[in-house]
Amino acid sequence: MLGGGKMKGGDAVSGGGSSNISPMVSFLLGAAVATVCVLFFMSASPGRSLVDVAAWSHNNGTAAQHHHHLRSVADDADAARNLSVVVAAPAPAPVQASPYGDLEEVLARAATADRTVIMTQINAAWTKPGSLLDLFFESFRTGEGGVARLLDHLVIVTMDPAAYAGCQLVHPHCYFLRTTGVDYRGEKFFMSKDYLEMMWGRNKFQQTILQLGYNFLFTDVDVMWFRDPFKHISMGADIAISSDVFMGDPYSLGNFPNGGFLFVRSCNKTIEFYRHWQAGRYRFFGKHEQDVFNLIKHDMTDRLGVAIQFLDTTYISGFCQLSRDLNKICTLHANCCVGLGAKLHDLRNVLDVWRNYTAAPVPDKRAGKFQWKVPGICIH
Ligand SMILES: *[C@@H]1O[C@H](CO)[C@@H](O)[C@H](O)[C@H]1NC(C)=O
Ligand SMILES: *[C@@H]1O[C@H](CO)[C@@H](O)[C@H](O)[C@H]1NC(C)=O
Ligand SMILES: *[C@@H]1O[C@H](CO)[C@@H](O)[C@H](O)[C@H]1NC(C)=O
Ligand SMILES: *[C@@H]1O[C@H](CO)[C@@H](O)[C@H](O)[C@H]1NC(C)=O
Repeated sequence: MLGGGKMKGGDAVSGGGSSNISPMVSFLLGAAVATVCVLFFMSASPGRSLVDVAAWSHNNGTAAQHHHHLRSVADDADAARNLSVVVAAPAPAPVQASPYGDLEEVLARAATADRTVIMTQINAAWTKPGSLLDLFFESFRTGEGGVARLLDHLVIVTMDPAAYAGCQLVHPHCYFLRTTGVDYRGEKFFMSKDYLEMMWGRNKFQQTILQLGYNFLFTDVDVMWFRDPFKHISMGADIAISSDVFMGDPYSLGNFPNGGFLFVRSCNKTIEFYRHWQAGRYRFFGKHEQDVFNLIKHDMTDRLGVAIQFLDTTYISGFCQLSRDLNKICTLHANCCVGLGAKLHDLRNVLDVWRNYTAAPVPDKRAGKFQWKVPGICIH
């Protein structure tokens, strides 16, 4: 099934002449997008609860610390038999702190009236002046049709204290996803153990958001937002996901998904979908979450009736399958592009062209006088 999808994707790429990169390579590159300056956090191993994953800042973590304390006691063989006593002892009436810290406050502040948030996830390297976060913001601010207003609904999930501090200087809705025991600031290489932890952790966090009753649009920070993308997300879609390669039919499961731009409506079906997705981590051990998505999507759409919309790259585009129509493009993702330097180089050029486009008189825009500067390092 997966293989078949890839073959079809290959046909589309070579047939359409929109890409000179082999479909397999482009698929892998798309998946590798997040390897640069990757964020990392300890995520669910089979026995772990949400509390471990969700130990948050602004919260001395009453629940989390208590939980960790129990775990460390339990890990000690001598003390294991005392565990029931420890558990049974009444807690000294702690102030009932949420296991998610201030996550719910941040979500409530940022959400639209219909409980939708836009989310991105960053680490320290991306908050430096001139780095991806700056370009990301600039795209909103130079965008058209009021896309800048969407910043009010953006929650920036930060992965380390420096990123959190950096975020707070520039944005009102920052959230610190606390991590333990690992250097989550470092680059994680595609398909390394840490990389898989990171991607699955992100997936688990998204499930948490759904369980809290919020719809989200997750965007990688290397996605430029030029126009409001929500108008291209169908009311009938439970999940809307961007495409590395779009085949023409938004509801065909043969499209190539890219989780770097992903809308999910909070409902029982989608929460169940995430449960199965997470379980797939162990069922298809060692696989990347995007691969597991491909492996379970047919089954899940049949069994759960989850409607998955694949977004048309004319509007929700990326370097893998570049939209050349600046009058239509809403978002542009630096996918099929490895390395922070390469992304920055090409996205800066993209913004230069976009600035000229927006400054031009309407007839010039309509006449299609503006084109992306190609080839760049990745864009072509
Ligand atoms: C967190 O705990 C530390 C020491 O345990 C205490 O000094 C500090 O006031 C606490 N902060 C909050 C926000 O509760
Ligand atoms: C376990 O319980 C025994 C007896 O009830 C006690 O002597 C011992 O100190 C306890 N150990 C721990 C780690 O609490
Ligand atoms: C969703 O699940 C909850 C808990 O299992 C159930 O009470 C509720 O009726 C379900 N809602 C729908 C719309 O199926
Ligand atoms: C933008 O417009 C200016 C002025 O016309 C021009 O000099 C520059 O080369 C343009 N930049 C791009 C990237 O098209």
